Amino acid sequence: MKKLKRKIFREFYQPSKVLLGVLPDPDGDSFNIITLCFTTTCSYKPAMLAISIEDRNYSYKLAVVASEMVLAVPGESLAEETMSCGFFSGRDVDKFSQCGFTKEVMPNVSIPGICEAIANIEIKIVNRVVTGDHITLFGEVVGYHLNESNIERNLLAIGPNILGYELLVKKGMHRLGVIAGGKKNYSDFFDNSFINGDV
Ligand SMILES: Cc1cc2nc3c(=O)[nH]c(=O)nc-3n(C[C@H](O)[C@H](O)[C@H](O)COP(=O)(O)O)c2cc1C
Repeated sequence: MKKLKRKIFREFYQPSKVLLGVLPDPDGDSFNIITLCFTTTCSYKPAMLAISIEDRNYSYKLAVVASEMVLAVPGESLAEETMSCGFFSGRDVDKFSQCGFTKEVMPNVSIPGICEAIANIEIKIVNRVVTGDHITLFGEVVGYHLNESNIERNLLAIGPNILGYELLVKKGMHRLGVIAGGKKNYSDFFDNSFINGDV
């Protein structure tokens, strides 16, 4: 096998799901948004997700103390905003205002969701581990909320081979896209019995 540098290897190891992490700022009553592709489901019972945040990001210091967060699922109409939340820092800008996002009150956590997202996932953080230059947060899902009026294709972080994807935005090494073709609106694929069910 050929030995590769990490960055090159990563290019082959795409796509990855993209989420927008909303974390509270302990220095005020504001909230920051970070674009994340280090995301994974890590349990069914209870439903749990894990995300990792690098130490050079402003969100790192928020992640060290947060007890709750919201993970919003961005659709294709939020490609530019998702790239900008992954480019600008909460040290310098209020990303809710910059992106024109509307805060959506969540029933189970005191963190707002993003109204314009396809879905918002409410998370109670149950564990955190420093994993090298990232901190990994493990969270229990306490609510899933689907925006039934806006079920679009969800954004993916894609590599240089865009065959099979529609590339929507590129900035530096990051590319955001969606699976090519198919229906723009996925609502027909959803069985309504899944909607408004328990976690
Ligand atoms: C598509 C994409 C995926 C990203 N994934 C992550 C990630 O999983 N973890 C991370 O720490 N940073 C990730 N980043 C970089 C941060 O989003 C970026 O550094 C951001 O500006 C940090 O914002 P903050 O300083 O407000 O925390 C990603 C950026 C993009 C564009």
